[in-house]
Amino acid sequence: TTTESRTTELAEPQMLGFLAQLGIDVEFTRAEGDTLFYRDAGGREVPVLDFAGGYGALILGHNHPEIVGAAHEFLSAGRPVLAQASRQSDPAAVVGLLNTILRREFGDPEPYYGVFANSGAEAVEVAMKHAEFARVLRVRELLTEIETHLTDAVEAVRSGAARVPEQVLRDLGVAPGDGLDAAAERVRAAAAACAARPPVFLTFAGSFHGKLAGSIQLTHNADFRVPFAGMAAGARFIAFEEPGAVARAVEAERAEVPELLVDGDEIRLARRPFPVVAAFVLEVIQGEGGIRTVSAPIAAEVRAAADAAGFPVVVDEIQSGMGRTGAFFAAAHLQLRPDYVVLAKGLGGGLAKTALTLIRESFYRPDFELLHSSTFARDGFSTALALRALRVLEADGGAVYRLAERAGERLRGTLEKVRADFPDIVAEVRGRGLMLGVEFHEQSASPLHPLREADTAGILGYVFSGYLFGAHRIRTFPTASAVRTLRLEPSAHLDDESIAELDGALRTLCTLLRAGDPRLFGVV
Ligand code: F0G
Repeated sequence: TTTESRTTELAEPQMLGFLAQLGIDVEFTRAEGDTLFYRDAGGREVPVLDFAGGYGALILGHNHPEIVGAAHEFLSAGRPVLAQASRQSDPAAVVGLLNTILRREFGDPEPYYGVFANSGAEAVEVAMKHAEFARVLRVRELLTEIETHLTDAVEAVRSGAARVPEQVLRDLGVAPGDGLDAAAERVRAAAAACAARPPVFLTFAGSFHGKLAGSIQLTHNADFRVPFAGMAAGARFIAFEEPGAVARAVEAERAEVPELLVDGDEIRLARRPFPVVAAFVLEVIQGEGGIRTVSAPIAAEVRAAADAAGFPVVVDEIQSGMGRTGAFFAAAHLQLRPDYVVLAKGLGGGLAKTALTLIRESFYRPDFELLHSSTFARDGFSTALALRALRVLEADGGAVYRLAERAGERLRGTLEKVRADFPDIVAEVRGRGLMLGVEFHEQSASPLHPLREADTAGILGYVFSGYLFGAHRIRTFPTASAVRTLRLEPSAHLDDESIAELDGALRTLCTLLRAGDPRLFGVV
């Protein structure tokens, strides 16, 4: 009807237009495992092999029977979805089970507390807010101490118990004649100036942590970030996989504030380190940055820099976590113990939206719970499904992790062979487990004008998506910020037949690209 079509046109019509151009604007009507189905003009159901995997949320596949079962159970029991501010055992069990997994994968008994959210970006912002809250509390403690020491110093000088050496006044930029009051003012002004500075978040170039006002500041892609740079404090982006870069970035942010201390019968000038950095936030395998893995030595540099300076390491496992790499946490492969860890995507079992920020006890500020909340966070339905999803992953001694690892090896092997046969077309295969990326060479010299144009416009990967869908009924998308890289994030249940289908499709794509064959577009 007119009303229906109008509604469709008004819901992000620009995006729909783009999908239509690529020929991928179908409406899917059913989904199961790694397959999506739509109905063609004749009403027949057409299967599409789904390597996009709900942007990485479908480690268990579409409509996993156990998760669907959990949803049915929840609804038929008439359990409450929204009973905020009450005792809830499912969220507690989710965080409890994740603690068991954290202990197993990082070998550390220190507990992690959990704060629920509704989306990945929101959970990243929970981490950012908590880190900033902790920093602000540290700043307040520092300022209180400096003020106490200052009062003591002033008192000691007034009572004649101590004297101020002229050098101390000179070091503070105060003329000897101006005396201690002027010096005290300098100390207070320096502390206030530092306290007024916005926090600094450190992250790697290429990172993607979401698109809300705070998290977008940690997302490197300038198209996404720059228009909103005024909305929150900006991050410092550190060169990816460059030895020494982390320590240099931390050093560049180092700040000190002066303080006056009574030392015997003299006043002494000391310098206290000021906490500027709120947190280091990283993906151990960058997803939207093009499936790029942080190496163990660089992870160790992050850990060491954070330990030395006292800020937390926030590991964003939104895309890499939930077993996709063969371990529950991708950081486990690097033995990078997180201070905070963020989960979303697959946490809802592919059926519900939920997210969670876990914070190690020694970093946790319990008052945060009174400051941060959301109507829908930790709702009954999504946490029940999250609990079931975790149990499915953990069943049979973690059989799903082994499935993911093995399927990942087979998929990677297949992609590597495609690359070996088409080194002029495929530049690199990257990633781990079922978080894989295939990077294509640029097409600036292609005889096909539309292909050259697409490459210049930064949509080459989308042209490949359109071709693979149109000609082979395969769904995959480029990574958002590395647009010549197709990402493959199927479920742990991916079978050999599906891998063979992808293999054939990619080989045909490479052959057409090599020949500059316009059929690359014809089928779209
Ligand atoms: N962090 C990472 C590592 C992500 O990959 C994403 C989302 C987010 C945070 C934000 O989560 O979308 O639930 O708010 N990545 C999406 C993607 C956009 O294309 O894979 P969100």
